[in-house]
Amino acid sequence: MPRVTFLHPQGVSGEVAENRSLLEAADILGFPLPHDCGGNASCTTCRVEVESGGDNLSEVDFDEQDLLDRENLTEAFHRLSCQARIFGDVTVRVPLQKFGDTSSTEGQTSNQSAL
Ligand code: FES
Repeated sequence: MPRVTFLHPQGVSGEVAENRSLLEAADILGFPLPHDCGGNASCTTCRVEVESGGDNLSEVDFDEQDLLDRENLTEAFHRLSCQARIFGDVTVRVPLQKFGDTSSTEGQTSNQSAL
């Protein structure tokens, strides 16, 4: 199964079944990734920044690109975790402002195995 890593001071890393979204992976691994619109590609609170393994994620579809463009998140590393599906190992950084935290995330994860 693909390994997914969320870089954050409370970050996690673990294996999840292929074809799960990054948001589903966060839930499975016990990481509280915000998702205000419930995964409907209309809020960007679930946004993450791909550090590695971007080719192992599903392509950006029209709805995801449209929302990212409207929010001026035009760099290719931005993904909506509710839309990006996992097909291989991937590491993403969770923006700290989501949690009102300003500390560094360099190399900070905890390891755990999950479904
Ligand atoms: S949860 Fe709202 S865009 Fe992903």
